[in-house]
Amino acid sequence: METQPRRQFLATAALAGAALAAAPALGLEAGKRPATLKVGLVGCGGRGNGAIRDFQAAAKILGIPVEVTAVGDAFEDAAKRTAQGLGLPADRAFGGFDNYRKVIASGCDFVVMATPPAFRPLHFAAAVEAGKHCFIEKPVCVDPVGARAMLASGEKAKAKGLGVVAGTQRRHQAAYLLNKARIDAGAIGPIRGGTVHWNGTVPWIKRRNQGESDASYLARNWLNFTEISGDHIVEQHVHNIDVALWFIGRPPISAVGYGARARRETGNMFDFFSVDFDFGQGVHIHSQCRQITGTWSRVGEQFTGATGEAFGGGRVAGTKVDVPEVKLESDNPYVQEHVALIKSVLAGKPLNETQAVTESTLAAIMARISAYTGDIVRWDDLLKNEKSPYYGLACKPSAEDFEKGAVTLPEEKPPVPGKA
Ligand SMILES: NC(=O)c1ccc[n+]([C@@H]2O[C@H](COP(=O)([O-])OP(=O)(O)OC[C@H]3O[C@@H](n4cnc5c(N)ncnc54)[C@H](O)[C@@H]3O)[C@@H](O)[C@H]2O)c1
Repeated sequence: METQPRRQFLATAALAGAALAAAPALGLEAGKRPATLKVGLVGCGGRGNGAIRDFQAAAKILGIPVEVTAVGDAFEDAAKRTAQGLGLPADRAFGGFDNYRKVIASGCDFVVMATPPAFRPLHFAAAVEAGKHCFIEKPVCVDPVGARAMLASGEKAKAKGLGVVAGTQRRHQAAYLLNKARIDAGAIGPIRGGTVHWNGTVPWIKRRNQGESDASYLARNWLNFTEISGDHIVEQHVHNIDVALWFIGRPPISAVGYGARARRETGNMFDFFSVDFDFGQGVHIHSQCRQITGTWSRVGEQFTGATGEAFGGGRVAGTKVDVPEVKLESDNPYVQEHVALIKSVLAGKPLNETQAVTESTLAAIMARISAYTGDIVRWDDLLKNEKSPYYGLACKPSAEDFEKGAVTLPEEKPPVPGKA
């Protein structure tokens, strides 16, 4: 007799036991194993190619075949390369800045979104409108206007019974889940403060080709432009800031940050940030991030509690507490996040991580605005206080500008605090 791997068995049993809730959407029926999971991909770069394979790996663990219905990228050749790698015909690959519309219309139930973050609010809104379950890579926006759009789409997804899981994969990683449970059970007492870091190197630079349009250059070298990436405090350090919001259990009330640029060769971002996040009730988190090659590197999170200390997914020094074992279907958090999404949708209890990932992204944006301007920036300035100069902040060019062909390259100069 063919035996099922233990993990697959656990996953299958979980699905079989799922409540027969009302079907949330589309061709999927809650509590029923579908013949195939149909998924489309928007953004065929490094993460997009990884995420679509992680989705396939997750479905395999759950014992369900996957059909990739279409892939899209701003650049047709990138979409075609991904299609070829996935064994799809070339007519399933869409290029251009309207690619997401064609992917969403390709008959998929799930959309995996892995474009640069500036495009996420527009693409997510369209996917939710069309009733698709979504995997949204972090970060999910680059400005407060985008954050409020994400929150609104997240609520719409909830009302429609759609699943939304974000690429903040630490939330699907056993070591982090265990430490979160330990802290909640009182292992270190209430969190009083901590530090979060992403000190590393510039990931990459793409030089401008001769005669290249502003739109093409920005879409390729996006990682070095604030308007498209959010700056690295948002694009990269959001992972660690996310752990702070998750472990503390609320967003910060304000941020005061410093930053500057010393060595970056293209774009308009800072090289480093140092930020005091005030979480209220006397709780402060110091955030540090730097992208300068040849400097001391550290990526992680540390929390000081009233009676102990804990590291994000590492050591906990404090009171021994009993918490349930964390049982996951995959040791790989990049796969586990898709297992969680698919399982929740098929169980009729769709996960919706939109608010969590948007708040973490917005906290990073709040810190960036503070460092760029030299001002203290409050959470309410971004979500409630319409009179604040930061409430209506919307980076240009926007995702819509790319689709309309109305893109002008921002100045390749970093902001000057006190003047920005
Ligand atoms: N969770 C993680 O650990 C993790 C790791 C890496 C990247 N990411 C995130 O994934 C996203 C993509 O990053 P990446 O490393 O794959 O970058 P990348 O540059 O390798 O890929 C981005 C792709 O998107 C394409 N693109 C640009 N604009 C587009 C548009 N409007 N529509 C469709 N495609 C468009 C680009 O041509 C490129 O192929 C980012 O948000 C990044 O922060 C997450």
